[in-house]
Amino acid sequence: MNLQALRSFTDRSQYYDFRIPKINDELDLSHGTILYLEGITVSFDGFKAIDDLNLYIDAGELRCIIGPNGAGKTTMMDIITGKTRPDEGTAWFGQKMNLLRMNEAEIAEAGIGRKFQKPTVFENHSVFENLELAMSSNKNVLPTLFARLSGEQRDHIDEVLEVIGLSEQVKAAAGVLSHGQKQWLEIGMLLMQKPRLLLVDEPVAGMTHQEMDRTAELLKTLAGKQSVIVVEHDMDFVRSLQSPVTVLHQGHVLAEGSMEEVQNDQRVVDVYLGGH
Ligand SMILES: Nc1ncnc2c1ncn2[C@@H]1O[C@H](COP(=O)(O)OP(=O)(O)OP(=O)(O)O)[C@@H](O)[C@H]1O
Ligand SMILES: [Mg+2]
Repeated sequence: MNLQALRSFTDRSQYYDFRIPKINDELDLSHGTILYLEGITVSFDGFKAIDDLNLYIDAGELRCIIGPNGAGKTTMMDIITGKTRPDEGTAWFGQKMNLLRMNEAEIAEAGIGRKFQKPTVFENHSVFENLELAMSSNKNVLPTLFARLSGEQRDHIDEVLEVIGLSEQVKAAAGVLSHGQKQWLEIGMLLMQKPRLLLVDEPVAGMTHQEMDRTAELLKTLAGKQSVIVVEHDMDFVRSLQSPVTVLHQGHVLAEGSMEEVQNDQRVVDVYLGGH
């Protein structure tokens, strides 16, 4: 046996390769489900923020998550993105990727994008440059600004501009955009990474009614191409999305169905919708 063969024979990673999450694996959607959360429990100082949570999201689905303050909606997103580790349960992205064995960067790389509430666009850069910067996985360097874009990359930027409705503002500095436009630009920046699952936490807070309508259109356009999970408190907005709704309460799924169904569910009215 030569040395190289011996090395590969003694290299444990060769043996245990199948146990290592392969983030470069193609996302396996052969069963039509993109996200599986099963039996997830998380405690903070003995308080169960998430309690035996089960949630399944289909490939291409738009899903709304509603529920009272403290229901665990944001914590659920923290678990999906690897920011918080559950005490119990399993979390899979497609058939093959075990999210609980991946760190935040690997999860983002694998195709899960997250939009936080506050837009974090580069105010001094143009809309175009913001999208261009978002293509680079390393946000700390700016070389992409000076590199030549391929035709394919330009096409992708144009496509995203169209989706987020900012084609006319392409040369404007991001800083002069309205609050709603900044939110759309940030969604566009996430889209530049070609995510397969997008998590959006309270996207319409602070928006005008017109901006809310536009945002609903935008999210509906995304569905089909990628899966989208939207957390929102604004019930008019949730209704306008016309998507399946999951109601979280005390870290657990209380009800699931169309907006009309959950609206007529007495348990949901009692804990949440009564006040809305
Ligand atoms: N890092 C943390 N440490 C301690 N407690 C936490 C932590 N993160 C969340 N919690 C608690 O967990 C519970 C669920 O919080 P979470 O933010 O997930 O709720 P939410 O459904 O997003 O609420 P809201 O609608 O107000 O955004 C809350 O009681 C919160 O105080
Ligand atoms: Mg929250």
